[in-house]
Amino acid sequence: MITQHNIQLQPYNSFKTKAVARLFSEPANAEELSEILNRFPEEKKLILGAGYNLFFTEDFDGLVIRPAMKGIYLIWENDREVELEAGAAEDWDHLVEWTVKNGYAGLENLSLIPGSVGASPVQNIGAYGREVSECITLVNTVDVQSGERKSFTTDQCDFSYRDSIFKQNRDQVITSVRFRLEKSYTYLEKYVDLSRELNSNTNPTLSQVREAIIRIRTRKLPDPEKLPNAGSFFKNPILTSKEKESLVSLLPDLPLYTTGGNRFKTSAAYLIEKAGYKGMRRGLVGVYDQHALIIVNHGTDSGSEIAAFVKEVQQEVFRQYGVMLEPEVWIF
Ligand code: EPU
Repeated sequence: MITQHNIQLQPYNSFKTKAVARLFSEPANAEELSEILNRFPEEKKLILGAGYNLFFTEDFDGLVIRPAMKGIYLIWENDREVELEAGAAEDWDHLVEWTVKNGYAGLENLSLIPGSVGASPVQNIGAYGREVSECITLVNTVDVQSGERKSFTTDQCDFSYRDSIFKQNRDQVITSVRFRLEKSYTYLEKYVDLSRELNSNTNPTLSQVREAIIRIRTRKLPDPEKLPNAGSFFKNPILTSKEKESLVSLLPDLPLYTTGGNRFKTSAAYLIEKAGYKGMRRGLVGVYDQHALIIVNHGTDSGSEIAAFVKEVQQEVFRQYGVMLEPEVWIF
């Protein structure tokens, strides 16, 4: 197993910020991964997926591991369902495309989300009324401390909105993920924007749903290859009913979604827009002009410049509306 020294991480994060990793390794299977972890027990470690949900503000004085496990395998199937396992390094949207082509339902609403399969359970990716946790049956990992192989059932993953045990503890490297999908498909409206895009087609096929989502996302979200970004930068805040009441008195049109337990999810994009930041540019960093939840990099290679702008947006939204936005992107 090869370990490289002093590797530039700029190509490995979608914001394209510069930082050097003192040690860098791309294990192709769980055995190689265990070997590399056992060889460097004392090093600080960072696990990189496709780099769509993090950026660097300084060099990394430790070992960066970029899992390289590929492949999509059929585990079992019956008349109604199929269970697949995909390697952590598979491109997420490639997996979604493959499932839709084969007529397997479950992941279609998560079309075109950038990133790797291994990153999908970490922040429980979600879109258009669907979260990946609804389809995951097992997550296979290697423990960062012991180098041991482990498996987590859905319950053990402790999934919630953009959260999981892997995000909370950060002590596992995900090597592969199992998904259970359906062989038949009936469209259920979960998201008005999507139904609108489907143009009153109430019985769309899986491919039609995927295509509609690709159209919505392409319109609203910037291509990271052209305008570096990391998708939604902040989580949508969850408010208590008291917080909700006081915010609605300031913003009567505030979008609200019930999440159960007398909690209300609102839109971070809406708050950022109302705070005056949509399309705003500060130096080489800004908020995307088509969607206020996206921080975009207009040409800096300094993560600190992005982090400073993020702080400004947080402080200004807090000053005006009393809500502290929490990044869903990791800043290192
Ligand atoms: N809005 C604004 N201004 C904007 C954009 C949106 O006020 O510039 C308001 C509108 O009221 C709109 C509402 O925000 O109805 C919701 O916007 P949108 O449907 O785009 O969804 P979102 O809440 O901003 C979430 C996910 C996205 C996912 C979409 C669609 C989070 C943090 N983000 O965004 O996920 O694609 O829903 O389901 O939950 C990602 O995580 O990278 C991501 C793109």
